[in-house]
Amino acid sequence: MASAWERKRQNSDVEKPVAFLPRLLANVSPKSNIDSQVVHGVLLLVDISGFTALTEKFIQRSSTDRGADELAQILNSYLCDILEEMLIFGGDILKFAGDAVLVLWRTRAQELAKTIRLVLQCSQQIQKKYGTRDTRVGQKLRLKIGISAGFMDFMIFGDRRWRYFVICGQALNEVREAEGLANAGEVILSATSWELCEQHRLGTEHVAGKGAVKVTDMDEMSSSERQDALHKLLQRPRSHHFVGEGAMGPALLLPNDPNSDAVLRQFIPEAALRKLDDSVPLDFFPELRPVTSLFIRLHLCADVSKRDLYVLLCNASTMMLDIISPHKGKIHKVTLFDKGCTFLCVFGLPGEKQPYESLLALQSAIQIFNSCSRVLRKIQAVSIAVTSGTVFCGVIGHPVRHEYTVIGQKVNLAARMMMHYPGLVSCDARTYAASRLPPYFFKELPEQKMKGISNPGSVYQYLGINEEIVFGMGLTKTSSEYRSLLGRDKEIELFCRCLKAYGESGQRHILAFEGTTVSGKSRLLAELAYLGQAAGHRVVAVELLETNVRNPFSAIRILMDRALDLQDCESCSAREHVLQTKLRGTIEESSYSLLNGLFLVGFPDSDTVCEMHETQRKTETRSTWTKVLEKVVGGEFGIFIIDNAHFIDPASWSIMSSVFQNASLFMVISLAPGYTGTESFFRAIADNTTSQNITCVHLDELKPSAVVQKVCQDLGVVSIPRELVRFLIQRSSGIPYHCEELLRCLCRNNVLLLHSQKWGEKAEDNWESLIASALKDSSLAATSSSSAGKDGRVCVIRADMNLENTVLPTTLKEIALAQLDRIESLEQTALKFAAVIGPVFTTQLLSHILPAGIRHNMNCLLNRLVHNNILKWLKKPEVPQDAQDATKGPATAPQAESGVERPSRSQTMALPSDVLAFCVPLLREAAYELWPERQRVALHRKCAAFLEQHAHKCESCSQGDFVAFHRFTVTGTQGRGSSQDSADKGDSRSWEALVLAGEQMTRDRTQAFLEGDFGRTGGKHKGACSCECKAIVEVVLVPLVRHYKAMGDTARAFYYLLECVAAYLHVSNSYMALMKLNEAEVLRKSAEKKAIARFEDATFFSLKGEVCCQWGRMKLSEKMTREALRLLKRQFPRTSVGAFVKSKVEKFLGAAYVPKRASSLPEEARRKRQAWLLRQSCCLSLLEHLCSQEGTSSARRFSRLAARMKANTDRAAHSYQAGDFCHA
Ligand SMILES: Nc1ncnc2c1ncn2[C@@H]1O[C@H](COP(=O)(O)OP(=O)(O)OP(=O)(O)O)[C@@H](O)[C@H]1O
Ligand SMILES: [Mg+2]
Repeated sequence: MASAWERKRQNSDVEKPVAFLPRLLANVSPKSNIDSQVVHGVLLLVDISGFTALTEKFIQRSSTDRGADELAQILNSYLCDILEEMLIFGGDILKFAGDAVLVLWRTRAQELAKTIRLVLQCSQQIQKKYGTRDTRVGQKLRLKIGISAGFMDFMIFGDRRWRYFVICGQALNEVREAEGLANAGEVILSATSWELCEQHRLGTEHVAGKGAVKVTDMDEMSSSERQDALHKLLQRPRSHHFVGEGAMGPALLLPNDPNSDAVLRQFIPEAALRKLDDSVPLDFFPELRPVTSLFIRLHLCADVSKRDLYVLLCNASTMMLDIISPHKGKIHKVTLFDKGCTFLCVFGLPGEKQPYESLLALQSAIQIFNSCSRVLRKIQAVSIAVTSGTVFCGVIGHPVRHEYTVIGQKVNLAARMMMHYPGLVSCDARTYAASRLPPYFFKELPEQKMKGISNPGSVYQYLGINEEIVFGMGLTKTSSEYRSLLGRDKEIELFCRCLKAYGESGQRHILAFEGTTVSGKSRLLAELAYLGQAAGHRVVAVELLETNVRNPFSAIRILMDRALDLQDCESCSAREHVLQTKLRGTIEESSYSLLNGLFLVGFPDSDTVCEMHETQRKTETRSTWTKVLEKVVGGEFGIFIIDNAHFIDPASWSIMSSVFQNASLFMVISLAPGYTGTESFFRAIADNTTSQNITCVHLDELKPSAVVQKVCQDLGVVSIPRELVRFLIQRSSGIPYHCEELLRCLCRNNVLLLHSQKWGEKAEDNWESLIASALKDSSLAATSSSSAGKDGRVCVIRADMNLENTVLPTTLKEIALAQLDRIESLEQTALKFAAVIGPVFTTQLLSHILPAGIRHNMNCLLNRLVHNNILKWLKKPEVPQDAQDATKGPATAPQAESGVERPSRSQTMALPSDVLAFCVPLLREAAYELWPERQRVALHRKCAAFLEQHAHKCESCSQGDFVAFHRFTVTGTQGRGSSQDSADKGDSRSWEALVLAGEQMTRDRTQAFLEGDFGRTGGKHKGACSCECKAIVEVVLVPLVRHYKAMGDTARAFYYLLECVAAYLHVSNSYMALMKLNEAEVLRKSAEKKAIARFEDATFFSLKGEVCCQWGRMKLSEKMTREALRLLKRQFPRTSVGAFVKSKVEKFLGAAYVPKRASSLPEEARRKRQAWLLRQSCCLSLLEHLCSQEGTSSARRFSRLAARMKANTDRAAHSYQAGDFCHA
């Protein structure tokens, strides 16, 4: 059913910026320059009661963060109805604040009484129509309404780029109070509005001890009275269009000033503006994404005047914007209340994600805290809370008037923490962990009960950098604190060579290892530090943090602290003592006080220093520090290791760069691309005359074998399943940290089982043992020799778990989103659509699911994405005539399976195709997870509808279903994808693209094992089939299972799983057939009774029989096949007596067989019957084979019986087929 939003969308001003703004802003133009203005009118505050409880219910229900999506949907549909009513009554929707909305009816002072009546009527109507709403989770939502009237102040502030507005004053305070006094379902008039209104028309009750009243009844306004009141409103919507019985105006009418648009745009959040500008349809605004929220409360002094407040808002907002804007943080909302004002800042909104987001948010928080406390006047205290988590970012409200907002439990948590932990910067456990800052930056805070938050987790105070911390900074982890280093032989060899040259001849050298975030820089440097020490050198190793960039001279301080061993000094005087001892002879005694700023010591100023004037003092200080550094790096110190050298602050760099250029030292540093520091380093290299002694090495990702080794090591096992390796390699792209995070996430979700396995132990002959042994056979061992002992622990994936269904760990999602957000929003939207299809997709399918507004632009968007290395086109190999020579032929199946190119292809020309693939699988996952649930399901449905047209065998295999006549056994599927489908018949291009994509996916599935001994793929299970069916199973059938699972349609998912199994058997891949059967088994167990039809169940057992036979489990195969026949209503006897009787009956049936008049049946019924008979025939044929293998005379008898039964069944099946000819 269409949502309230969709129903109300027609004839509205959606997709235009004006719908994001209240009418009150209409007069704001560049010329008007309003900053503070008095406004008269009636204010209404409506609050949804029960919403906090609802939020909690959602959090408890969904273990993931995805609850926010459904929550937003419920809120939106409710708000949409309520807002419509207010718009009809001429209200100007000023602000949305979570589950509350503030509305203004602006009017002249003399019209207040009439307007109050209009607003009251609106409120009564809302309570009557929408006062209560039930939700699916059993939580009732109700409304509380407060009304006030009089004058208020309207203030605008911000910086040159962004502007914000607030309403404050008496009327605002009163409306808050009135809403606070209201119980659910009530309307309360504030004291002033009660004074002002036409009291004789109302039925009221006084609220005890207050001037406010509860309105119980009122004289309804006549239609003309209402029109009259509407016409007297100021900034009344001029072009009314009538909706229902009332008049609803567009939210805002733009003045005819060309500049005004630019001014108004300053009030709209950038995330929304960007999408509006790129013409992204409004429906595709919402996203579920991890963000960091910062709630800042400024507690005001009691005597603050209107002017003070205005100045304060201006100063606070510019100060905050200065601090957060460089990190793409945004002020999202500003709210005023009695004793203060609250700013909600958000980091990581769509298009704004940055690496190190939590860290940047924490640092911004402490900077804001310090600046506000220090600079702002009329402030008693500042409280800031920082939380991280997935929230709904999207549009909430009515098509005519809505707001871009964030909703989620973590936003609520930040708001509560700000209240419960006043006067400091607090953060939640997720921010604490995600910042990856050392623990000494934090202090754990005592637990507090917070309303609406049942389990807040640990709360920390963020201390920022203070004097105590400064001396603890820069510590690196030692190599023993890490797990063992893998796959860095090349780098270690280089280091050892340089070390030798340095040790033997003092040859200077700078080794720079460059790698992206988490590529393993620190790990490598820790190893090198260890090696340097082991070789008898003194090693000074420091690690810089992002904070260092913005702290002048912090890098040089840390480096010298370490080199002079100052970090262990307990007191200031101890530090002074060390400095005096170590620097004797290096600097004049009279200059010691110039070291105070650097080493945080307190040497008294000598007379010489006292006499220096400012600039001289600066120059002297600088030269003193340079001398100290020169002394420090001079010969006696061995190796300098600077991790994250890109975080060296410019002030330190200005001293260090010149010293390093001239000194003879061995230095190892790590750098990350994209930082100014890295660029200055490379510039220095370019300038450096001795640059031949500087070597820069890029850190590559780990090879698959190293990944397997790492995973085995981390899990403490000797082998891991092939599927796990494939999963980890594809998602981690060989980045060790990604591997670690993915593994941690799998372990947390109990996806993996670790147990000791006695190889060679006699296992039971059942299905589970078959799966276990198949997995064991295909497991990959940590080392090629795999001699880790007979009872070493092994890792297996839990049978009921599917790796594909696991969500991305937040850390990886954040990294991927930071990359995604560098893409333009329309391209990002196209990418999100592609992500639903899968890692490889065809343009035909993408075009099928894209909304019309984006479709026409698709190729251009795709080309840009390819240009930016996000996607890549797959090349269509053109096979020349001579390459089709039979002697050259296609590659053997094992070759093709293991990703070896067909020999003929390497000589051919590659042509552009209709197929694209994601360059980085992680990006696809992250893009996919941005979809809200409802839209995601709708897209899966579209994908499934498209793919179903192609869900059949290839042309050379006669195009039928893989399970013969399968579609006719299930109602409602006959029309889908049949080979007779005329629309599809012409679409050979689409098929061709799918085949190409399928071939790529087959390669992707196996390519992880290309390297060295990972080529062992168990050739006996690999198919000899090279027809197009092999590609179709990968690109059509397997994805169909995924789409139907995502839609929650078990029966269809099961149907396609059976098709997958039959298809894999068809292409002779019994390993994948087994794996898909296992998936079907899990699905069948979790399905409700009756979800799976009898024929499906029978086919399931029949296929199990076939697969067991292929795996050499004859007894098991017979058992499964018998069960299949029972379900197919063609029981096979168990005893010899039974067999004797049955064979007599069959003989008689055979002799007396009269062909049925099948042709009289409609085609569907005939096909359905054929499906049953052919399945029976398959089972009987298998039984004949199984029994004949046994060799006993009784088994031979059973075998003969099976053959006889099969003959009879085939004859019957044939008669149905003959019916076709009659029809023809
Ligand atoms: N070669 C490796 N072998 C095994 N594990 C590794 C390897 N490289 C990195 N790791 C693991 O990956 C994780 C991240 O590595 P590390 O902290 O060194 O990355 P980084 O590049 O320094 O990250 P950042 O950019 O955040 O500083 C560590 O836990 C480390 O144990
Ligand atoms: Mg590091």
